[in-house]
Amino acid sequence: METLGIDFGGSGIKGAIVDTESGKLLSERHRIVTPQPATPQAVAETVSLLVKHFNFSGPVGVGFPALINNGVAKSASNIDHSWIDKNAEELFSEVTGLPVFVVNDADAAGIAELRFGAGNGAPGVVLLLTIGTGIGSALLNDGVLLPSTEFGHIEFKGDIAERYCSDAARERNHMSWEKWGKRFNKYLMYMEKLFSPEMFIIGGGVSKKMELFENQITVKAKVIPATLRNQAGIIGAACFAADRTK
Ligand code: BGC
Repeated sequence: METLGIDFGGSGIKGAIVDTESGKLLSERHRIVTPQPATPQAVAETVSLLVKHFNFSGPVGVGFPALINNGVAKSASNIDHSWIDKNAEELFSEVTGLPVFVVNDADAAGIAELRFGAGNGAPGVVLLLTIGTGIGSALLNDGVLLPSTEFGHIEFKGDIAERYCSDAARERNHMSWEKWGKRFNKYLMYMEKLFSPEMFIIGGGVSKKMELFENQITVKAKVIPATLRNQAGIIGAACFAADRTK
């Protein structure tokens, strides 16, 4: 099904038309700078600009960087606080006049990587972690997603995990890759103790830098970088919308 996938990130809101059966992009990616502050109205207008750019009509999927329950934003750790309790699905559908479905960004990446990327058809428990401004998580078993896990927000080392070992934490604390890798490994070990995944898939900016920290990783599970790179969120959001439309 031809679906517009949109990925709402801290610096850019990106979209492309996706063939959700093959996971292939049917258009170039188009990126619009995230409005600041990224209030609900401002983001909705950007979503609408993307729809107009592609002259698209049909189902739209949006990967959203916060906890989402039935289309409603329930947290706002790295986005404008006025999002809390906003029904993002209703707002985007109203502004675009199209059926819009909203999914957590890491869950979107998890769906895409398991169908078409690093975890293609992987059996058993797979934990995808996106490491960027925050930490997002997607937990899958035999390709089936358990949504909204939010493992970046578990308490860890006296704080929440994303403040201990996100990419933003590495930059904020001027950590070397070695030092950050050691921290990240502690977090992976904790995740491994809790969920015993067969495989960790690492997404977000740090996935391109794995060679700089992989020596620090000692977990038993396989640890591999996401392969769909900056397309995972777009493809996963599009698949989510297509699944909801069926
Ligand atoms: C949010 C998650 C999101 C992650 C990555 C976290 O701060 O709570 O919902 O998936 O950042 O954007």
